[in-house]
Amino acid sequence: MKFFIDTADVDAIRELNDLGMADGVTTNPSLIMKSGRDILEVTKEICSIVSGPVSAEVVALNADDMIAEGRKLAEIAENIAIKVPLTWDGLKTCKVLSGEGRMVNVTLCFSANQALLAAKAGATFISPFIGRLDDINIDGMELIADIRAIYDNYGFDTQILAASIRSANHMKDAALIGADVATAPPNVIKAMANHVLTDKGLDGFMKDWAKTGQKIL
Ligand code: E4P
Repeated sequence: MKFFIDTADVDAIRELNDLGMADGVTTNPSLIMKSGRDILEVTKEICSIVSGPVSAEVVALNADDMIAEGRKLAEIAENIAIKVPLTWDGLKTCKVLSGEGRMVNVTLCFSANQALLAAKAGATFISPFIGRLDDINIDGMELIADIRAIYDNYGFDTQILAASIRSANHMKDAALIGADVATAPPNVIKAMANHVLTDKGLDGFMKDWAKTGQKIL
């Protein structure tokens, strides 16, 4: 499973990229707002850090304007994936921009039917939002499994990009189901390294090591 970093924080992206953990990046208007930076400038910097797809989201609501915005965002760098919402106009935009050979990430997906439409419209990525479904007591991971089954039934090559990931467990479950990509905030990716028994074991080793009086360096 590829890891995309769900942030516009360039320092966090750089740190994870140096570790080989950043196969790509996803941004959205809220993350750009949080960065406090200009969308074109921060997205360009992100594209210079990671070589994989960097999603930049359109903000127009009608297809003509979405297409124009998508083309402008695509000028930022070769590795831009244009992010469009899963609306009828978003699907039209997806069809046009993917037809031009551009990567398109269809976002705000909350049902298997929406994912089916995105694949038919030529999406490179479909972004089902796990956490936001869990928030309203709908099993977000079940949606990932449904989309996996449907895409595999028909051989769609649209990649399932599990999004709105809130915990390390979400990462594990998405990987077990076979999501192609998971995008998560840096803190969630770092939390995957944590285990209480690792901490306890290390503590025990350090105490015993101190008793030996030895040094390695
Ligand atoms: C990524 O593409 C999505 O915009 C993001 O994962 C949404 O996450 P949130 O539901 O935590 O805002």
